[in-house]
Amino acid sequence: MEPKSTDTLLDKTINEKQQGDVFFKEQQMASNPEGKTFYIESYGCAMNFSDSEIVASILGGMGYSPTKEMEESDLILINTCSIREKAEDTVRKRLRIFDKVKKKKPGTLVGVLGCMAERLKHKFLEQEKLVDLVIGPDSYRSLPQLVADASDGEKGVNVLLSREETYADINPVRLNSNGVSAFISIMRGCNNMCSFCIVPFTRGRERSREPFSVIAEATELFNNGYREVTLLGQNVDSFLWKNPETDETVNFAQLMEMVAQIHPDLRVRFSTSHPKDITDEVLHTIAKYENICNYIHLPVQSGNSRILKLMNRTYDREWYKERVESIYRIIPDCAISSDMIAGFCTETEEEHQDTLSMMEFAQYSMSYMFFYSERPGTLAAKKYEDDIPLEVKKRRLAEIVRLQNQISFNNHKKDVGKTFKVLIEGNSKKSDADFKGRNSQNNVIVFPKTGDYKIGQYCNVKVKDTTSATLIGEIV
Ligand code: SAH
Ligand code: SF4
Ligand code: F3S
Repeated sequence: MEPKSTDTLLDKTINEKQQGDVFFKEQQMASNPEGKTFYIESYGCAMNFSDSEIVASILGGMGYSPTKEMEESDLILINTCSIREKAEDTVRKRLRIFDKVKKKKPGTLVGVLGCMAERLKHKFLEQEKLVDLVIGPDSYRSLPQLVADASDGEKGVNVLLSREETYADINPVRLNSNGVSAFISIMRGCNNMCSFCIVPFTRGRERSREPFSVIAEATELFNNGYREVTLLGQNVDSFLWKNPETDETVNFAQLMEMVAQIHPDLRVRFSTSHPKDITDEVLHTIAKYENICNYIHLPVQSGNSRILKLMNRTYDREWYKERVESIYRIIPDCAISSDMIAGFCTETEEEHQDTLSMMEFAQYSMSYMFFYSERPGTLAAKKYEDDIPLEVKKRRLAEIVRLQNQISFNNHKKDVGKTFKVLIEGNSKKSDADFKGRNSQNNVIVFPKTGDYKIGQYCNVKVKDTTSATLIGEIV
């Protein structure tokens, strides 16, 4: 891409954003002289946390400011996840708590956002009497109208999914930010139909965001002191934006390169990569730029080809192994992490062993591990019997977790004695005398504060020791 045209488009995007902000300010003064507050809790994946920042921006435009005190707020929101039954149970428990607050302070509005809102739609209002608003992931622009209606006593639902919405023009309000790392959604929805997964139903069709708005957002973050951005999508490797005027396209490797070129001190991360779509072009781009982190989240789900077929993942064990080999060949010090599902429909003990052997093969730095939870309406729920007993699912999961802990610990032990470039992200949880940060491979490192180093700066840390989760080091 020609840098010149990038610059002009970039300026244009920033200008439009600034105009957007002014518009919000005017609206704020007009619509809300009392300065109301909202409280928001987010569950589920990073996309949901990122969406909450878009919601915060839209609410800001209505004059609502964020508060951490639920009891004092005028509007309580919960951004929900439907990925497993347990995730939904958690939301229902939280709604019980919100009910109590609402009873003590009548007039407080309670809104359900996100994937569970999308899945249950109007049913939410029937099941949860004290919920006032139900808004799906593509309908946050209707918040001003729905909140106004709810304030007048009219409960509101908007769960329309869109083929276009990317919220590209909305400047997210960073919530719970450390001022160093931020998420940027580069696409929404998912076109895959993994048979176990509810996401295509709750988030709709895949669409990619206009790249220059991504660059503008990342540039602004960098100028505001942020030093790390994570580009988010359910399947970032299928990012593809087509310029409607010129038919020029931007793929994920190109987008990542554009973000990496903003500044060498801006770290670039991304999630999630799909084994069927991650290309060598992406791997070479990671290898080419020091500031694109050597870390790939590449969920395998299962190590067995028959199960992968039932899961409709569209790759098999051999394909996945080849991708892992290519990663280690092209980016030798890359860390790979994964997601695994234990006890999917009809999984035998031997097939479960294939997942364990895949973990050994790939040497995952860490994994998110689950047992299968049937989700209503998914392909698996319709086609296959959820026939693995819960105790068996739990035992297989425990074996997966135990093996992952061993692999992580062994990998960490190999890091002792090495020196890594670390971005300082904050104080360590245990002691204010220590910093915590991460290396390129996404490993957390804790080390004593020495010299003049500050949060948001880079330093070289030599690893002295390790636990199974954290490396311990000192600045060199
Ligand atoms: N887009 C990502 C995954 C998003 S969901 C990808 O394709 O890898 C995050 C993880 O939740 C999935 O990787 C999967 O491991 C897990 N998951 C999804 N549906 C599930 C279900 N029904 N039961 C158990 N785990 C599930
Ligand atoms: Fe779900 Fe598969 Fe899409 Fe990931 S790629 S969000 S697992 S359907
Ligand atoms: Fe959950 Fe929705 Fe993310 S179901 S995992 S919050 S896309």
